[in-house]
Amino acid sequence: MKRALGTKDLVSLSIGAVIGAGIFSTLGTAAAGEINAAGEVVRYGAGPALVLSFVLLGAVCALAALCYAELASMIPQAGSAYAYSYASLGELVAWIIGWDLILEYAVGNVAVAIAWGGYFESLMSPWFDIPGWLTHGYFQVKASSNPEILALLDSAPSLAGIPILINLPAFLIVMAITWLLVIGVKESTRVNNWMVILKLAVLALFVIVGAMHINPENYTPFAPNGFRGIHQGAAIVFFAYIGFDAISTAAEETKDPQRTMPRGILIGLAICTLIYVIVGAVATGLVPYEQLKSSDPLAHAFEVAGLTQFSWIIADGAVVSMSAVLLVFQYGQPRIFYAMARDGLLPKGAAKLHKKYRTPHVTTIITGVLVALAALVADDAATYDLTNIGTLFAFVLVCVGVMVLRVVDPDRPRPFKVPFVWLVGGGGAAACLFVMKGLPAAAWKGFGIWLLIGLAIYAVYGYRNSTLRRGLPPRSFED
Ligand code: ALA
Repeated sequence: MKRALGTKDLVSLSIGAVIGAGIFSTLGTAAAGEINAAGEVVRYGAGPALVLSFVLLGAVCALAALCYAELASMIPQAGSAYAYSYASLGELVAWIIGWDLILEYAVGNVAVAIAWGGYFESLMSPWFDIPGWLTHGYFQVKASSNPEILALLDSAPSLAGIPILINLPAFLIVMAITWLLVIGVKESTRVNNWMVILKLAVLALFVIVGAMHINPENYTPFAPNGFRGIHQGAAIVFFAYIGFDAISTAAEETKDPQRTMPRGILIGLAICTLIYVIVGAVATGLVPYEQLKSSDPLAHAFEVAGLTQFSWIIADGAVVSMSAVLLVFQYGQPRIFYAMARDGLLPKGAAKLHKKYRTPHVTTIITGVLVALAALVADDAATYDLTNIGTLFAFVLVCVGVMVLRVVDPDRPRPFKVPFVWLVGGGGAAACLFVMKGLPAAAWKGFGIWLLIGLAIYAVYGYRNSTLRRGLPPRSFED
């Protein structure tokens, strides 16, 4: 591959993959907290101290990002953390990381699609109201503590006594993106740059207009739930940072990766953190933080503040930004499946390439249909939690992996070396575990079940069919 990417390109790529549902949607739950239908606290909100959650996460992600950069630069293969770990840490660790990445990519996209649906509804509202039962999934309604949303359980049409509650826009956008990917549409650097400009312009509009309508009283109390709120808020809004790891996969195409890669990753992270802090400060100043609990908190904040004409523009920008994020992750997932199938950990048929379009159409369609069906009924907050816990765990393994490799394979060339590796790797792993601790019990339970299913599949299929274990070269799918 040609080494063509410089620092500026990497920064633009990371902003393209990173800024999406996290800032446009999870910000609301992170600030306001969450109460379930039974009136119990699921998580405490950070309140205006959300800005501190963002700063904390920026630092945590910087540590993990440096470790990612070392792994990406030392193993000369384009791909995700799965590919690096397979080549270096052994098959079982690789399988667990690959299995976790399904949470990051596919389950993450379920969450982004639901957020997309929320903003799409705002976008359409000047012309027509989509009925609530077509924009709220069953589990989202069940988990809500909002009486208006809960009322949908009774008012929705029903089939054999079961209320029909589906998020149709979320389903349709995933199917549309899947179709684009099957026919081989890929985000180009140029399109990405335009998307980045649009995202930044919309967020800039939010900040400038919002800042003129801040009511300083909204900042007191600053941290209504103390550090617990900052921590638990950080654990959900971590979603806003997911994706920076994706740019480490461009190591082979980067000019002078030793300098450019860590710079690109860290500058990208710093810019996103700064944007998040400013947006968080404006959002919590604009309306009382409790009112941000909504699936489209930034547009909703403008509506509450009486700035309806701008809320439409925000919804517009959010819909485009999140479409871009959907495309990046929906593109990445089948390629991870492809790599896993190539190594014998998944059935060969899963990674066939389309004759005409040369895309892994089977996994693209399977991923698309599963993501779309899940988006139809899932609860957004639970989906964010599951994505976050899986991604954070993959980060922990990457941080530990970098340290292990320094011991077991010290002589392998490392175009980029993490400075103070014991401090950065050890600190990164501990920090990611700490953020995970801020997630609700249900997320841990879900994650435990997910890992058990993964290990069972490995035991039944991957262990026997792995090419590494059988001493075979990776399978080829070119036939
Ligand atoms: N960080 C990405 C987003 O917020 C996944 O949408």
